[in-house]
Amino acid sequence: MLKLGVNIDHVATLREARYRGLGHGEPDPVAAARVVEAAGAHGLTAHLREDRRHIQDRDIWRLREVTTTRLNLEMANAPEIVEIALRLKPDIVCLVPERRLEVTTEGGLDAAGHVAALTATRQRFNDAGIEVSLFIAPEAAQVDAAAQIGSQFIELHTGAFAEHFGEVAGRERELSRLVAAARQAHALGLQVNAGHGLNYENLPTLHRVPHLVELNIGHSIISRAVFTGLTQAVKDFLQLMAGYGGCA
Ligand code: PXP
Repeated sequence: MLKLGVNIDHVATLREARYRGLGHGEPDPVAAARVVEAAGAHGLTAHLREDRRHIQDRDIWRLREVTTTRLNLEMANAPEIVEIALRLKPDIVCLVPERRLEVTTEGGLDAAGHVAALTATRQRFNDAGIEVSLFIAPEAAQVDAAAQIGSQFIELHTGAFAEHFGEVAGRERELSRLVAAARQAHALGLQVNAGHGLNYENLPTLHRVPHLVELNIGHSIISRAVFTGLTQAVKDFLQLMAGYGGCA
């Protein structure tokens, strides 16, 4: 069964828009996490960015306490954040690139260009009982590098697929890249997640990508929640995922 991880950063973004620096405020991402889990999501994702623009340190510690499913901490391979993550002990970390000026995580991690550093970090997390995922573009060299680094998972960056969804040629091209990368990763023994820009419209087409284990969805679910409430938004997404076949 394809699993759903809900990224609750966007709830914190809304809070910070009004309450930045005050140490409290609404909406509370931890309250959102409880609703998301009760609605049937299989995991929670939060990104502790170096600039703390949305999720704050206090959020991830409370999330660790309340999570009853799986806590996926998205993070840069930055010394300060690695130390926090090793103490926090999420179930899994997803290493992502961070650029200060980006609105959200824009590109994939250059795993191929940082094999030694990522292997060292991967080893530290695995030694602490924490699984590791690498957020990468659907490119053969990056998938090979992920296997070399020894991560348990990759998360395929679906941003280009989402961006080109409206035009047939672009959509088919990006879908083919995702299919090829998923097959390659599966053959190398990696587990395959996917995320970024996925929504209620483009998700059914993504079913053509084989071997997917989990999707990480943020913006579209939180956006829909404004109109339907969070419980219904999660349930609607789960329903769309239900028909996923999985195999190539
Ligand atoms: N996966 C990763 C690694 C991400 O960085 C993000 C964005 O925070 C997502 C998934 C979720 O993307 P979106 O908010 O577009 O659903």
